[in-house]
Amino acid sequence: MPSLERSLAHGAPGMTPAADTLSDLLTRRFSCRAYLPDPVPRETIATMLSLSQNAASWCNSQPWHIHVTQGAATERLRKAMFDRATADVKGGAMSAQSDLPFPEQYTGVYKERQREVGWQLYEAVGVAYGDRAASARQMLENFRLFGAPHALVITTEKNIGTYGVLDCGSYLGTLLLAAQSLGIGMIPQAAFANYCPLLREFFDIPANRDIVCGASFGFPDMEHPANAFRSRRAAPEDAITWAEN
Ligand SMILES: Cc1cc2nc3c(=O)[nH]c(=O)nc-3n(C[C@H](O)[C@H](O)[C@H](O)COP(=O)(O)O)c2cc1C
Repeated sequence: MPSLERSLAHGAPGMTPAADTLSDLLTRRFSCRAYLPDPVPRETIATMLSLSQNAASWCNSQPWHIHVTQGAATERLRKAMFDRATADVKGGAMSAQSDLPFPEQYTGVYKERQREVGWQLYEAVGVAYGDRAASARQMLENFRLFGAPHALVITTEKNIGTYGVLDCGSYLGTLLLAAQSLGIGMIPQAAFANYCPLLREFFDIPANRDIVCGASFGFPDMEHPANAFRSRRAAPEDAITWAEN
């Protein structure tokens, strides 16, 4: 199955100046896995979250709630998650306590894509094939928040169920673009959901809320090799079936 380098759509039929701007945001965004230590000003974070609040949701229910860290809270969260994950790695297993079920498995083309992006990352940061210690160290970067000065957690109202999770996905997509438009790097992290009880206690999240996803964010360290590769995309034709008659 062919996969595409992501390319700007400038000049494609039907493009408008607004679509050009959107194309820039979409194609320049990437999951940022190394950050500068400088915090993002609180007003800029507030602007990012205010933009994201425009996301669409079923019945306009807006079931998302966002917990955001800065300063000492980020350092406390980094330490709590990193210590826990490091102990799990040493013990030979993650304790994986997620509010939402993780995918049972990726098969076929989905498995291929998962592998491809994994190898792109390993190649970029110099993890050799079969080097388990180095791949564990890279995996643990998730819990070091990739060095980011901020983290966030998105929760949904439990009794809205699957569609509440979908609405949070709509929010997450909007948030990633809002961040990009402000020069903020971000990475969504399902990895956080391994430690839902820890996060629930840390942020005092009530029992009626499910933790959907985490993210780390800040200003990207563009010199870091982890930020030097870009994931590919399948050709649009592979994801589209036209119904014409
Ligand atoms: C819901 C969601 C959860 C993700 N969880 C993780 C994660 O735990 N760790 C990680 O390194 N990347 C995570 N990612 C980032 C994906 O690997 C990334 O989006 C994908 O490879 C495409 O690359 P791009 O974001 O650079 O375009 C997640 C992305 C999404 C949308």
